[in-house]
Amino acid sequence: MEKKRLLLIGPPGSGKGTQSALICQAHSLLHLSTGDLLRAEVTANSPLGQQAAEVMNRGELVSDGLVLAIVQEKLKNHVGGWILDGFPRNVVQARSLANLLEQLHQPLDAVVFLDLTDDELISRLLARGRADDNEAVIRHRLDVYREKTAPLINHYLKKGLLMTVEALGTIDEINSRIEDILN
Ligand code: AP5
Repeated sequence: MEKKRLLLIGPPGSGKGTQSALICQAHSLLHLSTGDLLRAEVTANSPLGQQAAEVMNRGELVSDGLVLAIVQEKLKNHVGGWILDGFPRNVVQARSLANLLEQLHQPLDAVVFLDLTDDELISRLLARGRADDNEAVIRHRLDVYREKTAPLINHYLKKGLLMTVEALGTIDEINSRIEDILN
């Protein structure tokens, strides 16, 4: 696979984490999930985690500066490819990422957008039952996604980087679709 610096974007429950893990494992890429990194801080009860927990449980976005610092720290000493899962989450974060990648001389190769209907993603998340997976919070996460994250689809489309994948089907089927478009 030639494309080694990737973003996976999509609504909550579209399979970003599941598919990122599979592709990273298959191609020895670093999987950077800002959601997972924030949840690890919450579990450790660190000052950062205490700051993030309440915001995450409400389904809001934590501050741009905080997540950018986490991503910067992980990418600056990394040699090799990576997938960013759950970052960027808005246009400000996308611009910050572009600046960071320019400084690091690591251009983005592609942005994979996982496209899924609301009904399917809500049922997946209710079945999982994470702290932020109750129906009211899921609906709010979806509103936040539409308002703040969905504009990134057009942002990366204009840059010629966007690749859309239909995210309905089994995990293996979706994985094959992603592998196909990245090859
Ligand atoms: P984050 O952890 O990124 O959550 P999310 O975007 O809401 O995404 P999910 O993890 O719910 O879904 P996913 O698309 O990864 O799907 P998954 O593979 O898990 O963020 C959580 C919070 O952290 C945010 O709300 C925010 O507060 C904060 N945050 C994170 N990043 C931030 C940022 N950059 N800026 C600011 N704040 C940030 O799959 C979901 C479920 O479906 C699983 O149970 C899975 O097993 C199942 N599943 C997956 N694929 C399939 C399939 N094909 N068929 C059936 N089930 C499937």
